[in-house]
Amino acid sequence: MTSDAPALSPGLEGVAIAESSVSRVDGEAGRLIYRGYSIGDLALDATFEEVVALLYDGELPNAPRLAEISAQLEHDRALTDAQIEHARGAAALTHPMFALQAATATLGPMVNDFESNVDEATPRGIAAIAKVGHLVGVIAQAVDGRPYDGPRPGESHASMMLRMITGEEPSELYLRTMNALLILQADHSAGNASTFTARVVTSTKSEPESVISAAIGALSGPAHGGANEASLRLFQEIGDPSRAEEQIGRMLDDRYKIPGFGHRVYHVKDPRSLVIQQLATKVIEEGSEVADLYEIALTVEKVATDRLGSRGLFPNVDLFSGCIFAAIGIPIDFFTPIFAAARTLGWAVHMREQWDSGNRIFRPTQVYTGQEPRAFVAIDQR
Ligand SMILES: CC(C)(COP(=O)(O)OP(=O)(O)OC[C@H]1O[C@@H](n2cnc3c(N)ncnc32)[C@H](O)[C@@H]1OP(=O)(O)O)[C@@H](O)C(=O)NCCC(=O)NCCS
Repeated sequence: MTSDAPALSPGLEGVAIAESSVSRVDGEAGRLIYRGYSIGDLALDATFEEVVALLYDGELPNAPRLAEISAQLEHDRALTDAQIEHARGAAALTHPMFALQAATATLGPMVNDFESNVDEATPRGIAAIAKVGHLVGVIAQAVDGRPYDGPRPGESHASMMLRMITGEEPSELYLRTMNALLILQADHSAGNASTFTARVVTSTKSEPESVISAAIGALSGPAHGGANEASLRLFQEIGDPSRAEEQIGRMLDDRYKIPGFGHRVYHVKDPRSLVIQQLATKVIEEGSEVADLYEIALTVEKVATDRLGSRGLFPNVDLFSGCIFAAIGIPIDFFTPIFAAARTLGWAVHMREQWDSGNRIFRPTQVYTGQEPRAFVAIDQR
């Protein structure tokens, strides 16, 4: 390494990558706000459509604005027959998250020249939110061997998704819960891995659907969105709440990273977990199998907090979100695709903010650790 090497920040910790007014994560206070409003108030009192308007407009919508944005989402969710067939085909080949990534890419246009259409950033973003939610439903029906049964007139975004994914008419309580889950996962500042990915791809002037598709890939990993799936699988493996304490203790002795635990920014319990647990008391305790898994989650929280809390490691959103997804009838492989459909809102708003802020291409540097220049050696002399 040469003496003029730039400072290295693994994982870009502490590096500001953008100015943003969309949402703020306060990791010390354990607070998350969207446009100034607390995530708890929004998740428990607003609809996903209201939050779409809030994140785009910067203000909560009045009734006419809410009607307008709801109608726009409903209109824009339409998919072509070819897009539906492609998504169903992809669902037969790969994990729903990768099928969603591929299907989202097919929403893009035949041209690749977004800079000359950049005034479309808002409508194209809103269309992506509407269509990605619909695609999750299309993929769920295909995985379940059901025929395509698309959105119905007047259905909210949460209702369309929940009905298409589960194949059941959602109850009021489940619908309210789905709405809250979509809202809680809609944004998490510019610095999380998938939103950062969305901004990096935007900075190359890529088409919006390609931005969203790339961000879905980033969200799929178990260190990011995939942790909700991983945590529920772990609880299923533990199986019995009476075994949780011993097993988690052993895993921590082996330095295993507990999914749903720890966070780069939060050094207290993730505020989204607190809201999810409020919902959980209403929903999870209804179903015995899920109630057991939830009990395991609570034991994991206790054991891991006793061991790791002093190091600033606490439950994140994914420790409990899997349990509540399962409680409302969502298959485990669809936890992360639903997270992606929710976060498409954040990605789309950050894409527009990135363009509005000048959209300089991301091009960080490196600390080179390789060979100094040397002479090429012909193959017969090696
Ligand atoms: C979220 C996460 C990726 C943050 O990563 P990070 O900021 O780079 O933190 P690190 O992975 O460097 O962890 C720092 C220390 O805490 C420990 N740690 C972090 N998360 C842990 C976990 N879930 N279980 C046990 N130990 C954990 C690490 O082993 C490391 O210990 P060390 O310093 O002794 O080596 C990480 O906490 C993690 O992998 N958590 C599990 C996956 C998850 O829930 N992701 C969803 C996030 S919303």
